[in-house]
Amino acid sequence: MGCVLFTGATGGLGRLCVRKLAERGWTVFAVGTNDARLAGLSSLANVIPIKADITDPASIEAARALVASHTSSLDAIVNFAGVTSFTSMVEGDPVPAAQKLFDVNVLGTVRVNRAFFDMVLKGRGRIINCSSEAGWMKSQPFAAPYFMSKHALEAYSDSLRRELIYLGVPVVKIQPGPFDTNITDIVKGGYGKATDDTGYYKDMLPRMRPFLELGLKQQTGEKHLVETVMKAISAKRPRLSYKVGTSRLLSLLEILPDSIVDRIYLALFRRWGRSPKQAVPAVGRISKQGRESAV
Ligand SMILES: NC(=O)c1ccc[n+]([C@@H]2O[C@H](COP(=O)([O-])OP(=O)(O)OC[C@H]3O[C@@H](n4cnc5c(N)ncnc54)[C@H](OP(=O)(O)O)[C@@H]3O)[C@@H](O)[C@H]2O)c1
Repeated sequence: MGCVLFTGATGGLGRLCVRKLAERGWTVFAVGTNDARLAGLSSLANVIPIKADITDPASIEAARALVASHTSSLDAIVNFAGVTSFTSMVEGDPVPAAQKLFDVNVLGTVRVNRAFFDMVLKGRGRIINCSSEAGWMKSQPFAAPYFMSKHALEAYSDSLRRELIYLGVPVVKIQPGPFDTNITDIVKGGYGKATDDTGYYKDMLPRMRPFLELGLKQQTGEKHLVETVMKAISAKRPRLSYKVGTSRLLSLLEILPDSIVDRIYLALFRRWGRSPKQAVPAVGRISKQGRESAV
């Protein structure tokens, strides 16, 4: 067994994978920022916890120096660090959320792969990027930053794979469906806040909750995710991508044309909310009375 650098090692899914890798005799450099969870990982044999923020180049450089003090080559870089949000694109300020998700989910992965590339090349290893079903499915409303970032991560991974074919380093995408972790809690928390703060979707958002929860419902056990990651790390010829636990509800939307999906959303939103005209706050509209008085 060899050496793996694993980001997102302190997360709900990452911790399970790190545990399994360590059990199977891999040496795991387990990256995260949460002190308590890193301390928890330090009790596992074969695991070397590393505190590093993947949005901070200096922090990644320090992590590289620490890994380099143990080994000069890696068999795999596994990028599992990721964040999410539930964000309207037209209320509040959507830009900080989108920036944060791009910084962690996309650029964080780019930084880590760049910083450790010579080690994975030397180890004739591979790069594994954790995307999501949000990386290939039709984008859902109020989830734009996550879908944007995971679509970008897919494009980056495809481009990188074709660049690295020449150097013999495979690049693999993992595309999980929903799993009940901190990430689903963040979506539910963001949903609650958006429901409190909204002006346009006041009636509609509270009634959308069962639909959201159906979309977030876990479809398979975590062990399938862990085994999929083990396959991606150890298969002699790994596949280009692995789907695991794909949402059945959202899969249904994939077989329909975009225009039909739009109509389904509009029908559901109309059912749950007031008509869009009524949802527009009075200040944003000229009332009939106002128009008349303006004449
Ligand atoms: N759970 C799902 O439903 C689901 C579905 C599809 C795809 N995924 C993907 O699976 C991956 C793991 O998700 P999860 O469910 O395990 O989520 P999670 O429990 O929220 O874990 C997220 C991980 O990302 C790390 N992270 C976040 N920001 C970081 C930063 N700036 N620097 C370093 N590490 C950072 C966290 O580390 P600290 O806590 O130590 O900061 C944590 O280890 C993510 O890429 C996610 O997009 C998850």
